[in-house]
Amino acid sequence: MNCYIAILLLLLLKFATSSNNIPDDFISNGYLKLDGRAELSSNGLLTLTDSSPLLIGHAFHNFPIQFKNSANASVISFSTTFIFAIVSENVKFSGHGIAFVMSPNKEIPDPLPMEYLGLFNTTNNGINSNHIVAVELDTVQDPEFDDINDNHVGVDINSLRSIKSAPAGYFADQNGSFRNLSLKSGDPMQVWVEYDGINRQLNVTMSPIHIPKPALPLLSLTKDLSPFLLEYMYVGFSSSTGKLQSDHYILGWSFKMNGQAQQIDTSRLPKLPQSRQVREVVCGRRPVDLRASPEEVILVDWVFECLERGNILEAIDRQLVGTEYVVEEAELVLKLGLLCSHAIAAARPRMSTVVQYLEGRAQLPDNLGDIIKSHYFGEASNEQDVQLSTSISSLTISEPFTSTGR
Ligand SMILES: *[C@@H]1O[C@H](CO)[C@@H](O)[C@H](O)[C@H]1NC(C)=O
Ligand SMILES: *[C@@H]1O[C@H](CO)[C@@H](O)[C@H](O)[C@H]1NC(C)=O
Ligand SMILES: *[C@@H]1O[C@H](CO)[C@@H](O)[C@H](O)[C@H]1NC(C)=O
Ligand SMILES: *[C@@H]1O[C@H](CO)[C@@H](O)[C@H](O)[C@H]1NC(C)=O
Ligand SMILES: *[C@@H]1O[C@H](CO)[C@@H](O)[C@H](O)[C@H]1NC(C)=O
Repeated sequence: MNCYIAILLLLLLKFATSSNNIPDDFISNGYLKLDGRAELSSNGLLTLTDSSPLLIGHAFHNFPIQFKNSANASVISFSTTFIFAIVSENVKFSGHGIAFVMSPNKEIPDPLPMEYLGLFNTTNNGINSNHIVAVELDTVQDPEFDDINDNHVGVDINSLRSIKSAPAGYFADQNGSFRNLSLKSGDPMQVWVEYDGINRQLNVTMSPIHIPKPALPLLSLTKDLSPFLLEYMYVGFSSSTGKLQSDHYILGWSFKMNGQAQQIDTSRLPKLPQSRQVREVVCGRRPVDLRASPEEVILVDWVFECLERGNILEAIDRQLVGTEYVVEEAELVLKLGLLCSHAIAAARPRMSTVVQYLEGRAQLPDNLGDIIKSHYFGEASNEQDVQLSTSISSLTISEPFTSTGR
């Protein structure tokens, strides 16, 4: 019996030119079973949920994988690695997370969204007959499941009450010091889940994609998975949103029984939709940049702090400084970026209004600071001062800015 299976999502697009023998039409041939909100785009980006309330998304490999040589045998070693991204309009309102799942079925029966992550419901959570083992990337702290914080990685066996969990992060190879990672930063991150069938040990490791796999795992659980996994299991992903919402993406995935999962070529990952382009273009950095100083870490908050200090131009990309950018335009873009990223959708300007601001045909409200602040401090927003709208596609307005000042 050939216990080898390799699943690779990300290279689909350019597979024909690679030496790998995974077929080009890997996905179109029905290798992935998607349900709920899950969707696979032609560039190989797997969306599990978007930022809408109460969604569930599942994506399972369509064929069962043999985890044991017979029903009563021990679980064989396996290894998987995947790259995910959790993108939120505002990290404070992000939820609920992603789980890598091993399940007896490729359809999870009667799952709930929200803190149930699309895995269980109120009656079957915690029941041994689930035969579900999962590694959760959980962005909301749920006291009912004894979650340690709102940014953790946990091993779940038949229950959302993790058998072991750790704050998201990794141990740097250089000196072993722990580095925090924010699951919901929007940045793609890689996870490795490895089980040693002889020592009966499950390791979970993660790192930002530009850092190679850290030697020390984030989590190591010594536990025989044989009583929990059946002889044949399906592998895949589950994700959910609730009142708290995020876009949950898988950018690449590989899985292998009895050996190391194939490496993911991080130079060929599919692109994420770039809803924050305007702010990024001007500030020259990702919405969350862990290399920045702590007060600069969350871009929106940082731009806002610069505004509060009376010098919003501090937030401008250092590469722009000294070039001939137009100060007024840059300032306008930053302020508009703040307004467009307002946590309250109704406070964000209409597209037509944005264009008016850009063309100088309308003035931003004088009390911009108060309007923006209203969500940071939970005050009522000054809705009479801003146009009502549902939301804005900042992609559309990014065009005028890519050419501004560069
Ligand atoms: C295999 O395990 C089942 C219970 O899971 C048990 O009923 C059966 O007797 C076992 N078979 C053997 C050959 O050990
Ligand atoms: C929970 O799921 C199980 C199937 O695993 C189903 O039998 C049960 O009715 C569900 N409970 C609720 C409350 O939906
Ligand atoms: C570990 O190394 C990093 C640089 O690689 C440094 O920033 C950090 O302060 C070091 N931590 C300790 C405890 O030495
Ligand atoms: C990681 O974050 C937690 C809180 O989220 C904090 O208490 C801890 O000091 C941080 N650790 C490092 C090394 O930054
Ligand atoms: C898990 O991590 C431990 C500790 O670093 C290591 O000794 C062991 O070989 C690892 N096992 C697997 C399956 O990666």
